[in-house]
Amino acid sequence: MCGIIGYSGRLEAKQVLVNGLEQLEYRGYDSAGIAQITKETIEITKTTGNVSVLKRKLGEKETIASHCGIGHTRWATHGGVTEENAHPHQVGKVTLIHNGIIENYKKIREDYGKGILFHSQTDTEIAAMLFDSFYHGNPEEAIWNTVAKLEGSYAFCILFEDIPNTVYCIRKISPLVAAYAKEGAFVASDITALIAYTQDYFVVPEDTILVLTDEKAELHNRKGNIVEKEMLHVKWDFTAAQKNGYPYYMLKEIYEQPEALWNTVAPRIKEDIPDFEEEQIPDSVFESIKQVKIVACGTAMHAGLIGKVLIEKRVRLSVGVEIASEFRYASPIIDSNTLVIVISQSGETIDTLASLRLAKELKAVTLGIVNVKGSTIARESDYVLYTHAGPEIAVASTKAYTVQIAALCLLTMRLAFVKKTLGRGEITRDFALLKESMECVKRSLLLEPQIQEMTACLTDARDLFFIGRGIDYALSCEGSIKLKEISYIHSEAYAAGELKHGTISLITEGVPVIAIATQESVFSKMVSNIREVKARGALVILITKESMQVEDSIFDYHFTIPEIADDYTPIPAAVILQLIAYHTSLRRGLNVDQPRNLAKSVTVE
Ligand code: AGP
Repeated sequence: MCGIIGYSGRLEAKQVLVNGLEQLEYRGYDSAGIAQITKETIEITKTTGNVSVLKRKLGEKETIASHCGIGHTRWATHGGVTEENAHPHQVGKVTLIHNGIIENYKKIREDYGKGILFHSQTDTEIAAMLFDSFYHGNPEEAIWNTVAKLEGSYAFCILFEDIPNTVYCIRKISPLVAAYAKEGAFVASDITALIAYTQDYFVVPEDTILVLTDEKAELHNRKGNIVEKEMLHVKWDFTAAQKNGYPYYMLKEIYEQPEALWNTVAPRIKEDIPDFEEEQIPDSVFESIKQVKIVACGTAMHAGLIGKVLIEKRVRLSVGVEIASEFRYASPIIDSNTLVIVISQSGETIDTLASLRLAKELKAVTLGIVNVKGSTIARESDYVLYTHAGPEIAVASTKAYTVQIAALCLLTMRLAFVKKTLGRGEITRDFALLKESMECVKRSLLLEPQIQEMTACLTDARDLFFIGRGIDYALSCEGSIKLKEISYIHSEAYAAGELKHGTISLITEGVPVIAIATQESVFSKMVSNIREVKARGALVILITKESMQVEDSIFDYHFTIPEIADDYTPIPAAVILQLIAYHTSLRRGLNVDQPRNLAKSVTVE
């Protein structure tokens, strides 16, 4: 998704803007640009390609003495990847950058753009034209009049050529955070672009204008009155958002899982059972709940699949796991007795946010499991159970997934405690099993050299299958997305018992099958399914518990996790799948952290 940075202060704007864009590269993009303003001019520099290309282009220009400007990394929505379509866009006295989608841009162009020569295919340039058409010297009046005409989502940072040291911002749905530090005033798509200057920031509320100058970062309402900021603080610092010696953010984040898990679980435990008093989630919230829906996208949704198994088994409530982009347009059967759990690492995924808003309209009780503090989904959920994984920069989600599972384990235990479906003793036992599961991550990390060696057999694979039963099938879904999103190998996750109903026709000599068989309850069935694919020539990579006895003839590679309860195998087993995906992508010479076409947070539909 697009990255935004804005600045006004005592530093050289160019340096601040480029550094900020480098911190936002992980969001995924295809072009970049900045605009610097001085009393005399607004200078725009933009390019396709990445920030290093932009830096080179800037280096070829004479540096202007600017201390105010805006910067943008574009993830193409309207119009191809061209320099003309890159941001910033300038029309008349207005220069701006934008994250989001203006859904009625064609009508705006028809109504207001007659006779105007547009240089790009973007909705953003049309928005710039509208701002300019309403600008007669009063920037805030122009902004209110413009956004009144816009439909869709937006985070705008705007420069007016006759107001040289000021950046104006306004947002709707697309995220913006801001801060004032000793170096000046900042605005960005997310805190990672500001962390070099401050750990204290605020979210720019919708329906307010943010004004940045070298002396202030101020919020104004429609009357022009100052709006109080709700200050937030991140505990992690600039280094946490760096690679710290790892070759890729993804590997660093895989290795951060023991700490991330502990930081997520430990603060919520009182007398060996989960307690959400600090989170201001009272038990009364759960008393009237008769069904649960878990709504998310991608990896977050896969964590929800694990949560379903745990909650249904322990709390005996029906749990539906919904793909957010489907749920938001469906007619869900939910009411005030439904707990809707929305899971999101970024807290900005547009489909998950829209699903949250639908659930609230239908009077459901909403609880967010979110990693980014102060994010939109966190702020709009009735209750929030934050995960404390720290910044997750790699597009492929790893530590966020395992901490989401841990958070769902805690939630399951608390729900069982309130619903009295488990006694205190059973819950403390479950907590002990969760701790054991978290401890086992270190053992999985020790397998990295063998995993790295094994992935040689996957390097040229065209198709690959993950199979599992029960919670292992849920885990297979995550293994599959991890592998395909960073190695570009087509892979599918299949319920092992379903193979014979069609897919096994695709199993031929040498086709890799990653079989996850950690569940004692269905282990013999899984062995039969593995025999079936092996008999058809599959190359089998088997993941089991170390105690499970299997003949050598049914696998080509075998990785094990320590002896733990069936329901608590996903966390350590997931680490093996993450390392398989990571090393396969490396062997294929791909950009592990920023895979093609993908963005870290999908903030547009
Ligand atoms: C995971 O590896 C993917 N990058 C993607 O599926 C991601 O999990 C999904 O877009 C949801 O993101 P969120 O957790 O920030 O809402």
